[in-house]
Amino acid sequence: MDRVVIITGAARGIGYGIGQCFAKTGATLVIADVNLEAARKAAAQLDAEGAKQSMGLACDVTNIQQVQAMVDDAIKRYGRIDVLVNNAGICPFIDGMEMSPAVWQKTMDVNVNGAFYCIQAAAKHMIERGKGGRIVSITSLAENVTGPAQVDYAASKAAMRMLTVGMATRLGKHGITCNCVAPGMILTDMTRHYWEQPGPAEMIKTRVPVGRIGTPTDIGHAVVFLASPEAYYISGITLRVDGGHQAVCN
Ligand SMILES: NC(=O)c1ccc[n+]([C@@H]2O[C@H](COP(=O)([O-])OP(=O)(O)OC[C@H]3O[C@@H](n4cnc5c(N)ncnc54)[C@H](O)[C@@H]3O)[C@@H](O)[C@H]2O)c1
Repeated sequence: MDRVVIITGAARGIGYGIGQCFAKTGATLVIADVNLEAARKAAAQLDAEGAKQSMGLACDVTNIQQVQAMVDDAIKRYGRIDVLVNNAGICPFIDGMEMSPAVWQKTMDVNVNGAFYCIQAAAKHMIERGKGGRIVSITSLAENVTGPAQVDYAASKAAMRMLTVGMATRLGKHGITCNCVAPGMILTDMTRHYWEQPGPAEMIKTRVPVGRIGTPTDIGHAVVFLASPEAYYISGITLRVDGGHQAVCN
């Protein structure tokens, strides 16, 4: 068994792509998702791609008891957690002036509070174990730039970034690094409805310097690097993985 890696929201999309990249390293994966059946299926598929003895479990990251149970189950089965990837996230795509307080609250609950519960629970174990650790949070270009239908999302991702940066200052002395990966436009079930329309598909070609939409494994490679021993001296940063999109001026 190589490293034990928890990835939240990994039953599909970017989380699954991150799992595929860790699978190539022979890691043991804890695939935590609100969808238990899909999480178990993903864990089995990832073992077939090179991961070892992975497990899928049900965890709603907004529920602090379920987050603690996720961490306890991983430690009970594998004895340790080396890496936590905070990937679970939602983006309701609702105009900021039409958005109900309930939608705003839910975005904050999943994207910010969930990540906070996961970092605290995993980091407590990493500190007790005394062998360091790696924490990577999946933010978004929206931690810096946004639009009218992503007001809640951008606020949540900016908060997730500073949560991760703050924890980097707290946990560095324990050998635990905390970083963010900010994906650009990635084709997943969250975004497919938009990017498969003719206008947006054309926009990718003119606004993304590398000329294509991103894939979940584009993000996974960056996460595996930040989680590696070689990345020991990197903490408190955001690594943008966007094909150069944010570098393009209007
Ligand atoms: N797709 C993009 O273009 C893009 C861009 C920037 C950032 N991101 C971020 O990447 C992450 C993954 O996005 P995606 O496109 O793969 O989304 P997705 O909707 O395809 O997958 C999200 C996964 O998270 C799970 N999930 C949702 N709520 C959860 C909760 N409360 N607890 C546990 N699991 C939960 C879902 O069941 C699903 O499996 C998100 O944090 C998202 O904000 C995505």
